[in-house]
Order: sequence, then structure tokens, then C-alpha cells
Amino acid sequence: MDGNGRWAELRGLPRSEGHKRGVERVKEITEAANSIGVEVLSLYAFSIENWMRPENEVEVIMGLLESSLKGEFLNFMKEGIRFRVIGNREKLSENISAIIEGVEQATEKNSGLIMQCALSYGGRDEIIRAIKKVIALNTRPEDITEDMIHGLLDTAGTPDPDLIIRTSGEQRLSNFLLWQSAYAEFYFTDTLWPDFTKEELLDAVHEYQMRDRRFGKVAVKNSSALR
Ligand code: IPE
Ligand code: MG
Repeated sequence: MDGNGRWAELRGLPRSEGHKRGVERVKEITEAANSIGVEVLSLYAFSIENWMRPENEVEVIMGLLESSLKGEFLNFMKEGIRFRVIGNREKLSENISAIIEGVEQATEKNSGLIMQCALSYGGRDEIIRAIKKVIALNTRPEDITEDMIHGLLDTAGTPDPDLIIRTSGEQRLSNFLLWQSAYAEFYFTDTLWPDFTKEELLDAVHEYQMRDRRFGKVAVKNSSALR
């Protein structure tokens, strides 16, 4: 979800206004994703590198997170949304951590869309934490498999992303789901996150449906030509 700051700066507004507007987009996009049957919606809300932003901007983002979690909780229950956080929780304040855990536990048994919020998240940090778990378990080298690693990452139990959308014209992964995105399809758009609508989400999904995903193999329609 990139481009909140630029959206605000383009209008001569403080960056915080862009973040506020960005939160409103999350609500629309989550509802739209849920209604078209998306099983897991991962939202990159705050990277581990974002801690290095000015203190007041971090405070604004954490404040928005807190108020929207409190404000959206009943809606999550109504829509059947399961809320989860992936990322390094040690860096979060006790207050935010407690709110997150409360919403995670309360929505755990819902059966609709899983909203996986990447917060204080870095793909490398997640992999390092997984390696530490491998060592703590006294794992033998021959027991290390892709499934095992999958089970030790923050995303354990949820499938790899099929489609990654990045807004605001940047074409990079920025430490997002490094392990999990091995075969993800990408959709890049110049639209700034506060302008990203459900119509564009549908455009992205339609484009995704046209992609030929081979996962390194040969397309089924071509395999007979080789014989
Ligand atoms: C994305 O918008 C939101 C967060 C990273 C928290 P940015 O804040 O990165 O906006 P730009 O990239 O400065 O426009
Ligand atoms: Mg940015």
C-alpha cells in the first residue's frame, strides 16, 4: 500500500492526511476482496524499515492502526473476517500488541477472508526468526524441507500469495514476503494507494486471470508438441 505520503504532498497536505485516507481505502478493498471470494488478503501496512521514519509519523501510523482496529472490530465480526498480524512483534508497544492479540483471538473462529496485516514486517527478519526456530528445535539437516520452513514463518498455515499488487509506481518488493512470493504474479500501478479503488482491484484480478502460470514447468497446451 504505497503512496500515502506523495498523495498528501501533491495536495499540500501533511503526510498524516495521506495515511488517514489510506486507511479508508483498506476498508473498501477488504470488503471488495471478501465479496469476490479472496481467501487471504495480505496488507503491507508498516515495514520493519519504517521504524526509521520520523517519530511523529510512526506515532500517526500506530495511532491510526489502533483506532481503526477498535473501530473495525465489530465490522470484522459482521463480515466474518479473520484478522492476523505478521511481523516482528517485539518492536510493537505493549498497548498495540495487546489490542492486536485481542482482535486476533476474537476473530480466530470467523470463516471469511483472512486479513493478514504485515506490521513491523520484513521478509529477511521473518526468515532469520524462522532459522532461529529451526536451531532451537535441534533440527537435523535432512529434516529441513520447504514445508517445514513454511510452518515456521509468520504466514504458517496460509497459502503463498498468488498476486502481489504494488501501488504508486514503484516496482520492487521492499522486503515483502520474500520466501512466499517465489511464484507470485505482480501487478504494478502508478495509482497512489489513497486513490486505489475496488474497480482497480477488479482490473488487477482480471489481469491476473489472463496470466499463464507455469511454475517453471511447460504449459500443458505445449507439452504435447514436444513429444
Ligand atoms: C505507504 O505510504 C504507507 C506506509 C509505508 C506506512 P508511504 O508513506 O510510503 O507514502 P510515500 O511512498 O511516501 O508516498
Ligand atoms: Mg512509500
